[in-house]
Amino acid sequence: MDFLAASKLFDVRGLIVVVTGGGTGIGLMMTKAFALNEASKVFIVGRRKEKLEEAAKVSPHGNIIPIVGDVTSKESLIQVASQVKQEAGHVNFLCCNSGSMPQTIAKDPTQVSAAEFAKAALDQDMSNWNDTYASNVTGVAFTAFAFLELLDAGNRNRGPGGVQSSILVTSSVAAFLRGARANTPYTCSKTAVTMLVKHLADKFGQYDVRVNAIAPGLFPSDMSTGLVAAGGESKGDPTEEGAYPRSFIPAQRLGKTEDIAGTVLFLASAAGAYLNGCILLNDGGRLGLLPGTY
Ligand SMILES: NC(=O)c1ccc[n+]([C@@H]2O[C@H](COP(=O)([O-])OP(=O)(O)OC[C@H]3O[C@@H](n4cnc5c(N)ncnc54)[C@H](OP(=O)(O)O)[C@@H]3O)[C@@H](O)[C@H]2O)c1
Repeated sequence: MDFLAASKLFDVRGLIVVVTGGGTGIGLMMTKAFALNEASKVFIVGRRKEKLEEAAKVSPHGNIIPIVGDVTSKESLIQVASQVKQEAGHVNFLCCNSGSMPQTIAKDPTQVSAAEFAKAALDQDMSNWNDTYASNVTGVAFTAFAFLELLDAGNRNRGPGGVQSSILVTSSVAAFLRGARANTPYTCSKTAVTMLVKHLADKFGQYDVRVNAIAPGLFPSDMSTGLVAAGGESKGDPTEEGAYPRSFIPAQRLGKTEDIAGTVLFLASAAGAYLNGCILLNDGGRLGLLPGTY
């Protein structure tokens, strides 16, 4: 029964991991989980070199490796994958976590006329939508394509427990939101990427590469600052229970590093080895308060 000890079941030692957007926010929480639990190498990818270099300092094991790259550029992704191939030869776990959120159009349809809403909607540039899809959907697909051969190689270089290679995509609770005030380009991009995960799970399943998604609720990050502000002032540390009323988040707090760390350790280890095409909602119950489609 030794194999059921938590230290064995959730063991990620020796894995080669890539985390896009791994230098900040939720991606940094993922990076910490792997680096501090002795993954062999954790490659973190983003456009801002200084953020990546700062993040690399969090591990005492010297196993975080920054790579500057842009997930909206195929050339950049191919270059990043080629560097990882040179330095590690394979990948066991790929986190497609990079993403962006556009500004919402200024008008709230519950408050303005159709004419006012239409004007505000048409005043925005279409790039507001297209750029969001480029990073949140197309960028995820091409990150997965760029790393498929290395994940295939990961199946011949497995970590503890002989777990198959896999991909984790950061979707969002927003994937399931409807409601007049939702940030439509962002929610649609996250709905699309959730469907992409199911497609890739079937396609890549042919190569023994599994694909799953996490759909986080509110976690502290640069991106979520405006959304969190809607909950009003927190009572003390926003990630401690009691910081917010149940009417904002049933868990009464924002998500924290442990909530992401536990999820990624589960999905990357023998504990989660049977999951494929799974969308794991990790939101402290917030979706239950909003008009949704889950
Ligand atoms: N925080 C939340 O409450 C929440 C909830 C649900 C889902 N999410 C999702 O979680 C993921 C991480 O977001 P976050 O909240 O942690 O915010 P964040 O700290 O702003 O992280 C976004 C990360 O994505 C990277 N990125 C953005 N565009 C990129 C590009 N073109 N190429 C490479 N990297 C790029 C950024 O790095 P550079 O700018 O340096 O490139 C940054 O590290 C996103 O997919 C987001 O949609 C967040």
